[in-house]
Amino acid sequence: MTHLVTGVAGFIGSQLAEALLDEGHDVVGVDAFTPYYDRAQKDANVAALHDRSGFRLVEADLRDADLDALLDGVDVVYHQAAQPGVRLSWSEGFATYDSCNVLATQRLLEASLQAGIGRFVYASSSSVYGNADHYPVTETDLPRPHSPYGVTKLAAEHLCGLYAANHGLSTVALRYFTVYGPRQRPDMAFHKLIEAALDQQPFPLYGDGSHVRDFTFVGDVVRANVLAGGADIASGTVVNVCAGGSTVMRDVIDAVGDAVGSPVPVERHPEQPGDVQRTGGSNDAARRLLGWEPRTSLADGIAAQVAWHRTRR
Ligand SMILES: NC(=O)c1ccc[n+]([C@@H]2O[C@H](COP(=O)([O-])OP(=O)(O)OC[C@H]3O[C@@H](n4cnc5c(N)ncnc54)[C@H](O)[C@@H]3O)[C@@H](O)[C@H]2O)c1
Repeated sequence: MTHLVTGVAGFIGSQLAEALLDEGHDVVGVDAFTPYYDRAQKDANVAALHDRSGFRLVEADLRDADLDALLDGVDVVYHQAAQPGVRLSWSEGFATYDSCNVLATQRLLEASLQAGIGRFVYASSSSVYGNADHYPVTETDLPRPHSPYGVTKLAAEHLCGLYAANHGLSTVALRYFTVYGPRQRPDMAFHKLIEAALDQQPFPLYGDGSHVRDFTFVGDVVRANVLAGGADIASGTVVNVCAGGSTVMRDVIDAVGDAVGSPVPVERHPEQPGDVQRTGGSNDAARRLLGWEPRTSLADGIAAQVAWHRTRR
């Protein structure tokens, strides 16, 4: 089969493309190499893919690309491309979130419908939940995003539901919870923490370190995508992809210090608008509908990410 991975030069998309190639599929990967973070990291992410037979990279922007040509011969779409991150989604930054996350997704859904795509897997986010009334959150809880980024991820998720309900497009939305592991984006906490530990430079901690997160290893997220691509489930299904843990940020700082072999110097900063106090999901639906379970412990996942940071230096 031939699959389209959008955002193929990114943290998750590049590793998903590798997994699909490993399974014997052909992969068309599309990415606009947006300037959200350094292009060199994205080039490194796709470097290994260039040598693989069955892989083709298209450098294009989903907001204006010829999507009919892109989808020609494609069986499953894995839509990972987005403008990520909460903090830049305020004020004038919002226009990019709106166009990359909402408009681009609508264009891709419409083109997927016309092309008769068999399954459309959308990378949603735990940010759709905002600050919940109770934890762990389940897929039927009312989503109330706490950031403009979360609003755009939820809007695109609703578009997937609309194309499923009105037109029968077979969509699945996977709500990822704080993904970490090799190739993690440089704006994310584990990346900054490990770099700070290796350089013995201060790690900028926003808030008092009491934030709780349900950290999910990238390999587990990739596996959830592969399963969702072929699962026999209803169109419009929404599934949490989370390890199910509740780890306090302060403990992560200690765990990274242990993994690197020296404590991480911390520099305190005020809480940032849009950051939620806690994420925490139920993965019952993923277990039941996808046959998925998280396989990587936090300690093993941190060790894998530390190894990646050491190798790229
Ligand atoms: N990393 C996480 O913890 C996390 C959590 C929840 C949801 N997600 C979602 O998972 C997906 C992948 O996230 P990531 O962390 O790998 O981010 P990433 O920034 O590493 O990858 C996204 C890629 O999409 C590309 N892109 C953005 N806009 C595009 C456009 N208009 N046209 C073509 N390409 C475009 C970027 O260049 C980038 O390479 C995103 O949809 C994100 O919202 C990530």
